[in-house]
Amino acid sequence: MDEPIRILHFSDIHFTERSLFIQKSYNSAVEVINSTPHDFAVFTGDLTQDGLKEDFQLANELRRKIVSPKIYWIIGNHDSRSGGFEVWENMVGPREFHEYNNDILFIGLDSCIPDRDGGRFGRETLEYTKKVLMKYGDAKLKLVGFHHHLLPIPKTGRERSNAIDAGDMLSVLLDHNVDAILTGHKHHPNVYKVEDTIIISAGSVSSYKTRSGEPRSLNYVEIKPEKDIKVKIMETDGKPIKDELKTITRRFRMVDSTGGIWMRIAQISGTDFGSSNGQQESLFDRGMKLVEKTEPGLIVHCGNLTAKGRRADYEEAVEAFLPYSDRFVLCPGPNDLKGFGDTLLHKYFDTETILEKNDSCFYILNTSAPETEIGVVGRTIQNRLERYVYHTRQEHKEKFHTILMHHHLIPIPGTREKSALEDAGDVLRLLVDTGVNLVLSGHLGKSFCTRVEKTAFVNCNTISSSETSSFENSFNLIDISTEGAIVVSEINVPSGFRRILGIFPGIQT
Ligand SMILES: [Fe+2]
Ligand SMILES: [Fe+2]
Repeated sequence: MDEPIRILHFSDIHFTERSLFIQKSYNSAVEVINSTPHDFAVFTGDLTQDGLKEDFQLANELRRKIVSPKIYWIIGNHDSRSGGFEVWENMVGPREFHEYNNDILFIGLDSCIPDRDGGRFGRETLEYTKKVLMKYGDAKLKLVGFHHHLLPIPKTGRERSNAIDAGDMLSVLLDHNVDAILTGHKHHPNVYKVEDTIIISAGSVSSYKTRSGEPRSLNYVEIKPEKDIKVKIMETDGKPIKDELKTITRRFRMVDSTGGIWMRIAQISGTDFGSSNGQQESLFDRGMKLVEKTEPGLIVHCGNLTAKGRRADYEEAVEAFLPYSDRFVLCPGPNDLKGFGDTLLHKYFDTETILEKNDSCFYILNTSAPETEIGVVGRTIQNRLERYVYHTRQEHKEKFHTILMHHHLIPIPGTREKSALEDAGDVLRLLVDTGVNLVLSGHLGKSFCTRVEKTAFVNCNTISSSETSSFENSFNLIDISTEGAIVVSEINVPSGFRRILGIFPGIQT
């Protein structure tokens, strides 16, 4: 790979004879594709509106207008409708495939569940992806395309239609150092850098449905030999092509030394006081002994302090955390708000929204609501947080910003995405764009960490609840160095063993 690779990434045509497909917009997208030099193109799903044979016939007639050296066609949820997944194989091509050419590996996957908007990869697709990535481990460039998004997309409301096993696929692709992931589905262009992988979503080129009145668009992706990736969002709605909107430098400039420990945080969740699980008490005592041994400057509880939010549960919890009250912060989980839990919580705990400690700011973002597992932040709090972070960034550039919340924003391997945050797409965009350093969450009973752009995301398992997706209970230890490096480790409660979950070097700003 001596020359830059140029890819046209387009999506969501939605061919149909009905007015849902805008022929004029499609024609201008074809004009843009045909006049833009590129090495190959990737279409990330929803070729048709309803997966009907007539829709595919129209698609095959109009697809011929595109002039491209090569196009990878990927199936979308609309194509899978009404048995369309079978028609796709007859009229378009395989639903799952890979190609290895000139040191470049491209894998196309089917993330659809017929007649459902939401996605799922499933065990076979995950295995297939792993096998292919292992076989072509030496490929200079590894690209993977599918329809459903992996990370929440802004402006899309509740995350009902992401892939249910997005966490599993994300961990496979990160583990195998995939360079870029191309997706469609939400009709909104979006780009994130997750560790060293770029996740690119395309808008729609010709569907009647776009978000916030956005123009229809496609992505021009240029990958340089040193792996810097440039993504240019090109408007195709008959308007002139806009200048470059987003350039991603593949590798940040890291700080050389990790320095000494500046702050140590013990991150716990799911203490579940008042649970009928007889093990809870002894696990809690053992867990907190291990926490104490690590001498943390701060103990952060990411929710589900109590099992049912009852008065007796709160009283037990208050007593248990009394010895740590000078360094204890709580962010509630849905269990804490059950019944009269919301009132009791404020009686016993100070859940100040902002806590300033030395050179750091901790924001407690209560994402929980009574009687539902699904979380929400809401627009008012988002706006308040945005103003605060921008303001403190301007006044005190060196401050270290941490967000504490119960619900996670990045899909977690080994879990199912059924109770995510309603406005996860907007919140993720806000936290990444404002340059928040660290986001701590404690949902679903499973530890996981990764970094999106400059923000590290760490989820923790439960310390003493039986509601865990992990084999045994655990908590996280987060060491932040004087130069901004973050080391995350997980400590198993029954054995006391410690394992490293992630190391994120400091980034030069
Ligand atoms: Fe679509
Ligand atoms: Fe879709």
